[in-house]
Amino acid sequence: STSGTTDTYDITQLHAELEILPGLRTRAWTYGGTFPGPTIVSRSGRRTVVRHRNELDRPAVVHLHGGHTPAASDGYPTSLILPADGSYDARRVHQDMSGGSHGMSMDHGAMDLTEGTRAYTYPFDQRAATLWYHDHRMGYTGTAVWMGLAGFHLVHDDEEERLPLPRGDRDIPLMITDRSFAEDGSFQYPWLDSGLRTPGVRDAYMNGVLGDVVLVNGAPWPVLETERLRYRLRFLNGSNARLYKLELDPQPEGGGGFVQIGGDGGLLEAPRRHDSLEIAPAERFDVVVDFSRYRPGTRVRLLNRFGDGSTAQVMRFDVGSGHPRDDTRVPRKLSDVPRLDPGRASVVRDFHFRGSSAGWTINGREYEPGRALARPRLGQVEVWRFTTNFHHPVHVHLDHFQVVSRNNRGIGAYDHGWKDTVDLRPAEAVEVVTRFTDYTGAFMIHCHNLEHEDMAMMGDFVTE
Ligand code: C2O
Ligand code: CU
Ligand code: CU
Repeated sequence: STSGTTDTYDITQLHAELEILPGLRTRAWTYGGTFPGPTIVSRSGRRTVVRHRNELDRPAVVHLHGGHTPAASDGYPTSLILPADGSYDARRVHQDMSGGSHGMSMDHGAMDLTEGTRAYTYPFDQRAATLWYHDHRMGYTGTAVWMGLAGFHLVHDDEEERLPLPRGDRDIPLMITDRSFAEDGSFQYPWLDSGLRTPGVRDAYMNGVLGDVVLVNGAPWPVLETERLRYRLRFLNGSNARLYKLELDPQPEGGGGFVQIGGDGGLLEAPRRHDSLEIAPAERFDVVVDFSRYRPGTRVRLLNRFGDGSTAQVMRFDVGSGHPRDDTRVPRKLSDVPRLDPGRASVVRDFHFRGSSAGWTINGREYEPGRALARPRLGQVEVWRFTTNFHHPVHVHLDHFQVVSRNNRGIGAYDHGWKDTVDLRPAEAVEVVTRFTDYTGAFMIHCHNLEHEDMAMMGDFVTE
């Protein structure tokens, strides 16, 4: 609903029986009965309030990924919405959260419990971008997202709407996820009921939980019938842990089938052509594909070059045979993206992401709510340096950043524009420049391999 300067959405989180694999029922945890959840559309500069009612049988937390959001609505991992039926009380929550395999310790006083319904307020003092919302409960994010708790949240603005880009039903968000299914069709997650306490799971899932079926917007190998026109495809890797290398097969003649126009934080300055896209968990790539570059009737497969067998094919585009006129185009200049100057940084902070069978840590620490790894001052330019011995998609809440270097060299092909997640590869050092603004409070930095996150590779930073 809409009133004055606020749009309000109501979402009920509930169990739903979905048909994902033909003829089988999958019992999912959903936002509003679908997987992905409903796509919420907001306008830059207008407040959106999303009221979440929890009719699931366990606590929930909602985070708007990519949102420039006050701390109280950011989905802090211990700010829980308890089930509306009263089946959980504070005592049960404490039991769930303490004494895990990783011995997360916490000050239980820091927990913030709401029963039934919680309203999240998003001012959307930010530019147009492809955001997504998902569960963020401490120790259970991987489980909840795998079971279905994820959806798109798009933000539009005037700048973007003035451009002659494809829109309407030719602007398509595509959430790519991998899942495993049990024989009866249910989602198979290794520690669904037993939790992280299950002996051996840490060692067995060093790379996170990988599925063997790729879903696009909740469907296996879907086919999209396209006209011979330009389409805007907003790719999101919503997988817990899988990396993809997306490629069109066949490539249009001359290559460069993906024309990237945006990333995590909205439009790039200028379009960039790619033959393939490497996309880590939580990253978004906003691309235009011009299907008029294909002969009428071509079947174009979207492949995952990092996959094999059942994880190598993602979806298919069946190109129509007509010759419609296209009044869209991709302008040479998309936007002004002001550069943050790392030379002006008053602080350089190091974050070392370390994985071993002994634990997943940032700067040697497992996650502990209420303990700040950093205290950035609002408005101050900072350089954050991420290093690792493993593979970690590093995500920072509250504000987007710009990648400055990889291993002291230039940035990678997928590092352009404003980002909130950057793929950190083994033995790499990635430097980003950022500036936090507007909101004081506790926010998160974490690995977006959701199993690493749940195994405590997360930290608070507190803006002041
Ligand atoms: Cu998409 Cu802190 O997460
Ligand atoms: Cu986030
Ligand atoms: Cu990781």
